[in-house]
Amino acid sequence: MKCCNFLFFGDVVGRPGRSFLGKHLPLLKEKYSPDFVFLNGENATGGFGLNVAIAKELKDMGVHGITLGNHTWNQRGFWEEIDSLDYVCRPANFPEECPGRTHLIFEHQSEKLALINTVGRAFSNAVLDCPFKVMERKVASLREQGVKNFIVDFHAEATAEKYTFGWFCSKLDVSCVVGTHTHVQTADERLLDQKMAFISDLGMCGSYNSILGFQPDPIIEKTLHGKPCRFEVGNGPAMLNGVCVRMDLENHCALSIERIQMVEM
Ligand SMILES: [Fe+2]
Ligand SMILES: [Fe+2]
Repeated sequence: MKCCNFLFFGDVVGRPGRSFLGKHLPLLKEKYSPDFVFLNGENATGGFGLNVAIAKELKDMGVHGITLGNHTWNQRGFWEEIDSLDYVCRPANFPEECPGRTHLIFEHQSEKLALINTVGRAFSNAVLDCPFKVMERKVASLREQGVKNFIVDFHAEATAEKYTFGWFCSKLDVSCVVGTHTHVQTADERLLDQKMAFISDLGMCGSYNSILGFQPDPIIEKTLHGKPCRFEVGNGPAMLNGVCVRMDLENHCALSIERIQMVEM
């Protein structure tokens, strides 16, 4: 049987997330023997977006594919730079005029895998195409090109939309859907329909004593008194959230999903 293991980490938030991941990735690689490492990098640069320097830092760490989300364009100049990064894909349901790859293709044991990123529409005011229809079209067109294994990061706020999208993808014979965006890991990892690895949110890699990776005090001030503030990336001990998924590349399904959570002591 042709199998493949991969690690997928939740939104990396600024330097604490990057450093902690960089420190522990060698150990995690030893433990899980992943063929690929993926992560969501929409908060990797200073908490908001991604740029070329940080994308390269993550790649040098041993990351094979980076997905994004609603913060994709936060870093000045990234619109012009994203096409130069062949290991980064932006949400496929952004308007088609946007630059950037809408999927990444990997190969393992002569089988092709596609990594796709879409964003949800619930509680979002972004300009977005329907993630369901985009996914259906994308899977069909990639399948025509000989790709039969699909891994999806669904970057979304609402749990119900994530489950709806998950079940929808399982009917398309997608092998894995991981949710991102909320920065809080859920404990609902499972094989959906007994064949598709699913978790509604991977969580984040970032500051542990924080609000979703950011310093609590300014956010409390803003919430209580409306005081304008900059969201600053948190500090102190860090944490790391993700999953390890094992896939059967011949039957185009998942065999297992295991949640990973580490907190710096
Ligand atoms: Fe995020
Ligand atoms: Fe997000």
